[in-house]
Amino acid sequence: MNDERDQSETRVVEAGRRKEWTQGIVNTPIYRASTILFDSVAAMRAAGAGQVGTLHYGRSGTPTQWSLAEALTELEPGAAGTRLFPSGLAAIGCALLSVLKPGDQLLMVHSAYGPTRNLCDTLLKRHQIDTVYYDPLIGAGIEGLIGPDTRAIFMESPGSLTFEVQDVPAICAVAGRRGITTLLDNTWATPLLFPAIAAGVDLAILACTKYIVGHSDVMLGSVTAAQNHWQTLEQTSRSLGQHVSPDDAFLAARGLRTLSVRLRQHERSALAVAHWLADHSKVARVLHPALPSCLGHESWARDFRGSSGLFSIELASGDDDDVAALIDGLAHFGIGYSWGGFESLALPVDLARLRSLDRPHPGPMLRLHIGLESVEDLIADLARGLDRYG
Ligand SMILES: Cc1ncc(COP(=O)(O)O)c(C=O)c1O
Repeated sequence: MNDERDQSETRVVEAGRRKEWTQGIVNTPIYRASTILFDSVAAMRAAGAGQVGTLHYGRSGTPTQWSLAEALTELEPGAAGTRLFPSGLAAIGCALLSVLKPGDQLLMVHSAYGPTRNLCDTLLKRHQIDTVYYDPLIGAGIEGLIGPDTRAIFMESPGSLTFEVQDVPAICAVAGRRGITTLLDNTWATPLLFPAIAAGVDLAILACTKYIVGHSDVMLGSVTAAQNHWQTLEQTSRSLGQHVSPDDAFLAARGLRTLSVRLRQHERSALAVAHWLADHSKVARVLHPALPSCLGHESWARDFRGSSGLFSIELASGDDDDVAALIDGLAHFGIGYSWGGFESLALPVDLARLRSLDRPHPGPMLRLHIGLESVEDLIADLARGLDRYG
């Protein structure tokens, strides 16, 4: 397992840096463009309709975006190509639209990112696409939910906020047999910790905003497709005019080059904090995929090459005001949405507002992103916070 992680760490550094794109510069430069000038009408015609590698029009990208997209493809063994999007949510939306049509049914994991659920409950519904939510722990039992109109299964593993790890290979095996497309939001693990296409996923989605960018300063998403889904994904994203700025692509590529070392440190520090919290008397449960207290931990242990820096905790007692007091006084954790940057963040979790059918979580919850600060400082900060609380 570790050997495979080591190999992908080399790819993280080398992938997408084609000489014809970099011109020998280490990082593919920022090529900004809308109009591309041709020498003649014949040359313009010969440039085709915007294939990767041929300059055509700004919306078809320049070496800056091609390089990032190719690097993300190379991180997913077996993948055919990657399309970039202006946010993770835009990537999710386009991936779904590339697969679904009116009258279809979508099986959506219950623990999906809130705005993904919102997309299903509003836009997809308006287009007569029916969403059925399923339990993240369903595994091969997903077969029982498949009906004549089921066209796609969407997974997010681990799930948002509650971190249930799904049996992705089992679900993909059923879907493959039944001719149903599988999509996975793989943002928490990235292809370094879970190569999704090799596990049987058809469309692997990343909110690059998080760990790929890694510095909390760019919004960006990607969808990497297996061969049989590449053409439709490419056509759909082109038809919708999806495009990312070369400046953002450059920053994402720059972030990508250090992804493996950042992830190793996020992993080490988050595990140290998670184990410390698990032993604390005021903490009822730690929802971290690498800890047995997390639902689906066995799937994580079997399928993943490591863990990242985001997890939740459930407190033994208290209410929303107590959680606010705990978080408000933290010196080293910012209060804000998103995660995956170099800095630590804390967020109160309100499942009641987000989901309809959850397992009961009796105590109040908060989500932590463990950044690259000293782990001793982070633990001392949380210790003071827990002393203030309750
Ligand atoms: C798991 C997951 N997927 C997708 C997204 C959406 O990404 P973006 O914020 O880039 O739209 C997020 C954002 O928090 C997320 O946590």
